Amino acid sequence: MPQTVQGVIAPAKGAAVELTTIVVPDPGPGEAVVAVQACGVCHTDLHYREGGIGDDFPYLLGHEAAGTVEAVGAGVTEVAPGDFVILNWRAVCRQCRACRRGRPWYCFATSNASQPMTLEDGTVLSPALGIGAFADKTLVHAGQCTKVDSAAPATAAGLLGCGVMAGLGAAVNTGGVGRGDSIAVIGCGGVGAAAVAGAHLAGAATVIAVDIDPRKLDTARRLGATHTIDASGADVVQEIKNATGGFGADVVVDAVGRPETYQQAFYARDLAGTVVLVGVPTPDMTLELPLLDVFGRGGSLKSSWYGDCLPSRDFPMLIDLYLQGRLPLDEFVSETIGIGDVEAAFDKMHSGDVLRSVVVL
Ligand SMILES: NC(=O)c1ccc[n+]([C@@H]2O[C@H](COP(=O)([O-])OP(=O)(O)OC[C@H]3O[C@@H](n4cnc5c(N)ncnc54)[C@H](O)[C@@H]3O)[C@@H](O)[C@H]2O)c1
Ligand SMILES: [Zn+2]
Ligand SMILES: [Zn+2]
Repeated sequence: MPQTVQGVIAPAKGAAVELTTIVVPDPGPGEAVVAVQACGVCHTDLHYREGGIGDDFPYLLGHEAAGTVEAVGAGVTEVAPGDFVILNWRAVCRQCRACRRGRPWYCFATSNASQPMTLEDGTVLSPALGIGAFADKTLVHAGQCTKVDSAAPATAAGLLGCGVMAGLGAAVNTGGVGRGDSIAVIGCGGVGAAAVAGAHLAGAATVIAVDIDPRKLDTARRLGATHTIDASGADVVQEIKNATGGFGADVVVDAVGRPETYQQAFYARDLAGTVVLVGVPTPDMTLELPLLDVFGRGGSLKSSWYGDCLPSRDFPMLIDLYLQGRLPLDEFVSETIGIGDVEAAFDKMHSGDVLRSVVVL
């Protein structure tokens, strides 16, 4: 029997979100219904609401979640009812050209549920990143459920489902930051702060946090930043060079995703260094760089989708590190809120008051 539950939708471009009744079908072959316990509010949800990602309104928002598998469809072997899982938005296919070459984190054909969730009148909902977890229950592809140790609270675990994994992975997986390296992170919201924590965990010697909001720099310091730069009144490139013996950082992560922050990242890295773009630009943005500088400075310019993570490899490992006290996921949870408070959480994100608001269901 399809179930009716409460969910948060973005009804139209730029309109405030609404809490409404949604219909969740029984899981079909390869699908699972998950009772959501917690879901973080990510900047990407706001991008959806503003029409920056697509025009497939209404969207069912929320994609950074943990919960319990309630039911699975035919043929599902990877998870079972009762499992505590983190939802991921890149369930790999194992068959595309990237998967076949042993690079499943680039999978070009990731899977979502095939049946739609709908409004009561039958209107089909577009779940954010194929998840839609600002809802009591959601329907996903079983491969989107990654089982982890249930000793971790859902509020902390869910954050690995998007922002923390994206930021940590941008530094460690995409940027390859390791012991003794230097890194600068531009923009220290949920994503950038996780890049700082990941670099610290990986043994980076110099970790430079850059933001226009001093509160974000305080948090970054607690997460392992060795230097902080308030970008509102500084020459960011020069300050990063000052902190790295005059040379620039081995890796610079742009966790804002604007042409000006990308240019800072480009020029603030050492020769042969790496730029990692993890912030998501909007369609109107363009970038102009002297091609001679692209050549002459060498190194690599990379983008990071979901921190180049492999959920089955990374989520259980990072939860274990959290339970051992080595990855402070609780630092990212600024507040827990109810399912009716998502619009207010967007306001707090805008004003910089929070790293993450987490909806508890
Ligand atoms: N690539 C991925 O897989 C992936 C995954 C999740 C989120 N994202 C993207 O990452 C970005 C960050 O997400 P978030 O949730 O951390 O957002 P957020 O709003 O919490 O953080 C953004 C931070 O950037 C700071 N900032 C803004 N302009 C700046 C500037 N000019 N210089 C320095 N700092 C500046 C803000 O003060 C804020 O602290 C978003 O674009 C989001 O869509 C990407
Ligand atoms: Zn694939
Ligand atoms: Zn997200």
